[in-house]
Amino acid sequence: MPSHTMKALTMKAIRLHEFGGPEVLRCEEVPVPGPAPGEVLVRVHAVGLNPPDWYVREGMPGIPPEFRPPFDLPLIPGTDVSGVVEAVAADVHDFTAGDEVIALLRFPVRMQSGAYAEYVTAPAGDLARKPAGVDHVHAAGLPMSGLTAWQYLIEVGHGHPSPFQEARHRPAALNGESTVLINGAAGGVGHLAVQLAKWQGARVVAVASGTHERFLRELGADEFIDYTAQRPEDAVRDIDLVLDTVGGPASRRFLPVLRRGGALYPVYFGQFDDEENSRRGVTVTGTQVRANGAQLTELARLADAGTLRVAIDSTFPLTDARAAHRRAARGHLQGKIVLTLP
Ligand SMILES: NC(=O)c1ccc[n+]([C@@H]2O[C@H](COP(=O)([O-])OP(=O)(O)OC[C@H]3O[C@@H](n4cnc5c(N)ncnc54)[C@H](OP(=O)(O)O)[C@@H]3O)[C@@H](O)[C@H]2O)c1
Repeated sequence: MPSHTMKALTMKAIRLHEFGGPEVLRCEEVPVPGPAPGEVLVRVHAVGLNPPDWYVREGMPGIPPEFRPPFDLPLIPGTDVSGVVEAVAADVHDFTAGDEVIALLRFPVRMQSGAYAEYVTAPAGDLARKPAGVDHVHAAGLPMSGLTAWQYLIEVGHGHPSPFQEARHRPAALNGESTVLINGAAGGVGHLAVQLAKWQGARVVAVASGTHERFLRELGADEFIDYTAQRPEDAVRDIDLVLDTVGGPASRRFLPVLRRGGALYPVYFGQFDDEENSRRGVTVTGTQVRANGAQLTELARLADAGTLRVAIDSTFPLTDARAAHRRAARGHLQGKIVLTLP
């Protein structure tokens, strides 16, 4: 329950008052938010971390100013939540107090999504029921990474153009004849993408540093390339689809591994030359993940069925969010970092 003070109900939350390193994350006592129309109040059990958490903490220096969503300080970061519905607005009928839920909150419409807290408000449309057989820690790892993998590989589910590219993203149909290469396969997006591609019947080539080989083979990868020992672009040819979760300027090096008619999906925006793409006969498209309760419900079903397993890199108490961000900065994640609440 929220702690009762003289004036208002308050809660513990991690806030930032200035941009900077992990030290700007401060644990404070703040008012419990109230659900607006269309929203529910969630008592948070676990918070999944994602790269936008540190992009926001740093003030988004890597994002061109015209693409930066507006956000005001102080703010409570965090988009991915697993918890229990505490209260619902009068117009919300799909959820009731006591429901266990997960969500990607408001992304990318608002950056102050507020998940690093004991309570957070959530638009009902962003929510899915937590998979009953999966605990809050693992469930909190699902939303943003799972929806990214889903919207890249299975179905976009929205008509919003990517802020980074004009071309519309349309996931290629995968089947038993397809070979998919996933770069950054051990990370949050990558490890779920490996499993979704296997679920579609594809043969999967996973690219990661060598320590992740066993993990990725257990998740179903058919082939493993240790990028520290071998350049993946020299190791394979005739790939139908590359999902590059590392992305950035180096993403172009994957173009030669594609067969004609193949596709490259950079998850982090990169630099491509339309002429080169058409000469090679390949498509390069991306999208920006968006909150979507209906798709998250599909992902939760797959998690409940054991088809999709969320891996946990590490957990930290909410009050130690700084240590969680320091872990993220060291890189080489295997699955998700999750903050836990007592
Ligand atoms: N378009 C969108 O809407 C969207 C949505 C979600 C995420 N993203 C972006 O996608 C990226 C990945 O997100 P994430 O949450 O999956 O991050 P993550 O959990 O940190 O995973 C990154 C993974 O990449 C691996 N890696 C690092 N350098 C590599 C390299 N040179 N070659 C191959 N693997 C390498 C890391 O481990 P090893 O090096 O040990 O293999 C790690 O497992 C981020 O840049 C994020 O901003 C975009």
